[in-house]
Formats: sequence, C-alpha cells, structure tokens
Amino acid sequence: MPKISAAKGIIINDSRGEKTIEVALLSGDIEGKASIPSGKSRGKMEAKTVPVERALENLDRFMRAASGRTFDSMREIDNFLIELDGTEDKRNLGANLTLAVSIAFSRLLSKEKGIPLHELLRNESAVAAPSFPRLFINIINGGLHVNASLNPLPFQEQLIIPKTSSPEGALKSAFSFIESLKGVLSPRGEGDRFGDEGGFVVSGLNPELGLELLDETRRIHDGEVDFGIDAASSSLWNGKDKVYEWRESRWNGDELLEVYKWISERYNLLSIEDPFDEEREEEWRKLMRWLGEKNSGLWVIGDDLTVTSAKKIREMAKVGAANGVIIKPNQRGTVSETIAAADLARQFGWKVIVSHRSGETDDDFIADLAYGIGADGLKAGSPLQQERLVKYKRLIQIEKSLKNESKLE
Ligand code: PGA
Ligand code: ZN
Repeated sequence: MPKISAAKGIIINDSRGEKTIEVALLSGDIEGKASIPSGKSRGKMEAKTVPVERALENLDRFMRAASGRTFDSMREIDNFLIELDGTEDKRNLGANLTLAVSIAFSRLLSKEKGIPLHELLRNESAVAAPSFPRLFINIINGGLHVNASLNPLPFQEQLIIPKTSSPEGALKSAFSFIESLKGVLSPRGEGDRFGDEGGFVVSGLNPELGLELLDETRRIHDGEVDFGIDAASSSLWNGKDKVYEWRESRWNGDELLEVYKWISERYNLLSIEDPFDEEREEEWRKLMRWLGEKNSGLWVIGDDLTVTSAKKIREMAKVGAANGVIIKPNQRGTVSETIAAADLARQFGWKVIVSHRSGETDDDFIADLAYGIGADGLKAGSPLQQERLVKYKRLIQIEKSLKNESKLE
C-alpha cells in the first residue's frame, strides 16, 4: 500500500486568475495529483485556507512527519492530516493543503488498487450506491460572482437542471439551452458578459428577472429542464439593520420568504439554496413549514448553513431547517470528512448536491465523488468555461466506460 516517496507542490492560477496550489504525490513511479478551488461567498464556519506560499511550506512539514509511513486507506491519511493540523478548522496546515494531499492520495490509492477513483470513493461511504447526478448548471450569474459595476441581479445563481440523468444528454441539453438563451438576451443588449462561473450577466434589481428570462427560453427550448436558484443570502444579509439588501433593494425575512413562495410556484422550482442567512435558522424553518403545508417537493439546500460539516448538518436536520445539502470538499479539508458529511445528510433523508467553487481549476475530482456516492446533483457552473466543462466531461467518460463494460459482459 502507498508509502509517499515524494511530494511536489506548485502555485497555479484558478479560473479567476487567483493563486492556488497543485500538489503531486509520488509512490514509486505512481503519481496522484490534485489542485484546489476557492470560494468567494464563503460560510463563516468553513475550514480555513492558508496563503499558497505557506501551504507549500506545510506540504514539506507533512512530508517530514509522514516519512517512512504507509497509509492503507483514506481514513488513515485523513486522520493523520487532522492530527498533524490539530485544529477544528484546519487553520494550521490550511484546508487547501490538507485537501490537496487528501485528493492526491486518493488518486494514488485508486491507481495502486487498480480501481477507478469513483469506486474508491464509493467504498469510503457507508451508505452510497453509485449513480449519475443531475447537472445543476448556473447559467445566469449574479450577486458577488459578478463585477458590481455591471449591476448584477441579487441572487448569485439561476440554474438549469436538465431532466435527464444521463450526463451526456444533460450536457447536450445545456448547450442547446444556452444557445436559445443567447437569442433571448441579445435583443436586450445582453449575453456577452459573464460572471465568475461562466454564466451570463443580466443587469437589474428584480430578483425574479433571471428566472423570467430562463422561462422565456424554456418555452422555445427543445428538451425538458427544471430551474433552481442559489440566493447565497448570507451575502445579502445586513446584520446591523437586520435586513437583506442588494443595492437599493431591501427585504426583511418575511418579505424574502414571500419572494420564494411566489417564484417557487410560478417557475415550478426544483431547488432553492441558501434562501436565508446562515445564522437565521428560524427563517429557514418557516420556509420548511410552508413546504410541509403545501406538500411541495422543493429542495431547500444548505450551503453556508451547513458548510459540509457533519456537526452542522446534524444540528440543522434536528431543527428542520433544510432538506438537502451542498457538499464542497474544500469546506471541510479532507476526502473522508466530506464523504462522512454526505453520508450523514443521506441518513436524514436529505438531498445531496456535490459542488465546485466559484474559483475553479481543471481538477475533476468532484465528478468522481458525485457519481461514486450517488449524489442527487452535481453543481459545476456553466460549461462555457473550461474549468467547469472538465467536470461534466469526466462524468460522461464514466458513463461511457460503464457502457463499454456492460457490452463486454
Ligand atoms: P463560492 O460560491 O464558491 O463563491 O462560495 C458557490 C456557492 O455559493 O455555491
Ligand atoms: Zn451556494
């Protein structure tokens, strides 16, 4: 089993042009690599990153400590990283460093075992059965993911979710939807500016406008898609005045709740992520109670609320604040803790959506993770941006390899 014989860390740029790290681990002549994304609308309780230069120094520290040791499983290496770091939030080594080592090691281990990465990840989960996630594709960007000078919409993400569970079919549907959407945006003089996740920028204050444009497109689009939003409300929350605000617009919690009720019915939304601030769980519970009364199937998804933390997921499930969760490996900092958080959410009957970050790299790990643990969704941005497209392509590669296997049987 792998003994790490060498490690190499370098600094690369992410999709926003910001510095991040890429780590390669060697075991003999087998190599496992990983690079790390970063978020802009972060939850307060996320694991902490350290500056890239310090992360690389910490890689050397890890190598000195790990010298001569073998690691037989993800749990072993991840526990080793957790102990070496010694904090709740990875602030010593940095979650960027611990995750880079953890993911790079998972690739080493899968190569040594001669199994695909998604199979290794599935085996780490107590409850998963692999299956293809639906694609959650952010095609109109807003909020903090757009340069403020462009007057973006308040909600960070307006997503399309093709109805097929075949990644190849879903990606095709997304590209054709994007073409149709261009036709809807261009008479408005829009469709040529993009946000951080490669989605179009639409200017305006009306939180419904993005969905209205998607709906207009859906009527001419050949293929079935659902819609979702990520309001990323913690970034709208003004704790001093106790209101949600975006430029001149202001809503109190009840007014925002009315917006969600209206748009979820009008556009038949599949999901709403981070509808309220991460510390205002009473507001979340009101939305959940409304779902109960309406017998609505809306997915109410925690992201900043739950930060891929088993502890937070348990707390929020107990008070009934959500019915689904975003799983982002770099919110926690190791592969096994990430999978444990997803497992726990599943045990509460929650939906699980594996997600990228707004600053991404070419690393496609989350595709193997989403398939391996049988996530309900994979959220990876607009396929117009290379760093996002690679994730969808990796899913398609898995889909093709399974088809070939079944032909051989
Ligand atoms: P972030 O946003 O990666 O900038 O935090 C993504 C999200 O909120 O889902
Ligand atoms: Zn989010």
